[in-house]
This record gives sequence, structure tokens and C-alpha cells, in this order.
Amino acid sequence: MPIVSAKNILLKATHEKYAVGAFNITNIIQMEAVVEAAEKNKAPLIIQVSVTPTKFIGPKVLSSVYRTIAESSSIPICLHLDHCDSVDYCKEVADAGYTNIMIDASKQNISENIRQTKEVCDYCHNIGDITVEGELGTVSGVEDQVKVAEDEAALCDPESALKFVNETGVDIFAPAIGTAHGVYKTKNPKLDFDRLKKIYELINGGEPKTPLVIHGGTGLQPDVVKRLVSLGGSKFNVSTDLKHTLIDATHDYISSHRDEYNPGKVDSAIRSAIIDKINYWIDLLGSANKA
Ligand code: 13P
Repeated sequence: MPIVSAKNILLKATHEKYAVGAFNITNIIQMEAVVEAAEKNKAPLIIQVSVTPTKFIGPKVLSSVYRTIAESSSIPICLHLDHCDSVDYCKEVADAGYTNIMIDASKQNISENIRQTKEVCDYCHNIGDITVEGELGTVSGVEDQVKVAEDEAALCDPESALKFVNETGVDIFAPAIGTAHGVYKTKNPKLDFDRLKKIYELINGGEPKTPLVIHGGTGLQPDVVKRLVSLGGSKFNVSTDLKHTLIDATHDYISSHRDEYNPGKVDSAIRSAIIDKINYWIDLLGSANKA
């Protein structure tokens, strides 16, 4: 399939009220597993890489592998840089061939957040079909180099959200509505569904134009996930769940095959555990057969 921008596949999802899984990977085995699961389910897919694994593997290497896989795939697949707080690095990774860039200037005041987000948008839109995600309010927890303490987290003000979207020209918007990165301390975290509804109505009420992102997917109960999707969340981010799956599968395989020295078998165990996990998420998000 030709390379597509995240905005295009997310607008379709927004219209049809399902969400595209945006799955964080840290290595190529995970990337292949995520793609294999999405292809079997005929589901559109966003592969996400945070700044640390992007720097570790190299943006050009990741982008080349991604493009090789995506161009011969039967489903639309995007490659997204997640939570980057450096404007310069956003530009470098856009140049390397990622199709979607998240500038996370959410810790700055709103005018500085708008200034930085607009700078990345202008740069990416100039290169071609590269779309940009921005965030307003702060999502608590830890995602790679971005750490926000619970008492520092601030929810997104709906009127400010509209101003942010209009003034930055951002393609995809992540409002903080109470979800958190990492493992939730309680089974029922306090989420502000009304706030999400209001933001959706303000930004996408007439004709959907700026898809909304839900961060902090790991640990949310299935009914909560479905409610967030029904209220207009069309990009659904999952990271910690996949990191746990990778580490647990590695540990379990090695513990039960302590005398075996066959890396390919460890990789297969990881791959199949990740595929099971992605199947679960695609089913929950309603994105199967939407490619
Ligand atoms: P979790 O790690 O809580 O799944 O959050 C993922 C995320 O929002 C990545 O941006």
C-alpha cells in the first residue's frame, strides 16, 4: 500500500466511530509482530516510537524498515514519533521519513506550546504529507523522557483547545482528560468524559477535521475504552502493555528453556505474545476490517 498520513486514516476512524491502535514499539521484532497482527485483522495501524528507541536504533534505520514493510503491506500503516519535546529533533525525524510527528510542548505555557507546535507543523507540512500531533494539558505518568507528576497534571480546557488547534494548524490533537501513562494505581481512574465530549463538539462538531488522541491506554477497562472511542477518540495509544508483554514473554520463555541457546525461539515467543496482545486491542477498538 502507498504510504499514508495518520490524519487520513484517523479522519475515517472519526467518521465511523472506531479507533486506530497506535502501538509503541522498541525494536524490529515488535514492529513486525504489530504489523502481522494488524494485517491478519485487516486493521489500519500506527506504529509509534518514542525518542529514546528512535535515537537508539536510528530514525533512518527505523524509517527504512517501516517503509519496506508498509509499501508491500495490504493495510495502511503510519510511523509516528511519540512525545518529542525538542523542535529540532522533531524536524530531524520528519526528514528521516516518519509520517507523523508528535511535538509535546505540553509542559510549556500555552503561548509557547502554540509557538513550538506551529513551528513543527509548518516544517512538516512543507516537506509533504507529514502530519503532526500536539498536546494541551498534561498527561501524568512516565512516557520515555517525558515525566509528569500526578499533582502537576492539568486537564485540557476546551476553549483553549479550540484556540490551540486553530492557531497551530495541528493535524491531530491530544487533550489531557485524566488518562495517565504507565500502570494506573486504581482500577477506575477518574476520567473526564464530559470534557472529551465538549472538546470533540467544539473541534469536530460540524465536519470532523482534527482527530482526537487518547493517551495512556494501558490498564483502562474495556467499557472505558469503548466509551472514550464513542466520544470521539480515534487514535488510541498503548505502550506500557506492550513493554510488559515483551519483558514477560522473554522472561517466561528463558525461564522454562534455561538450557536452550536459540535466540530465534525467544524472538518467536515474543512475537506471538505481542500478536495476542494486539489482537485484543484491535478487537476492543473496533478497527478490524477497517483497512
Ligand atoms: P500507556 O503506556 O499508558 O499505554 O500510554 C501510552 C501512550 O499514551 C503513549 O503516548
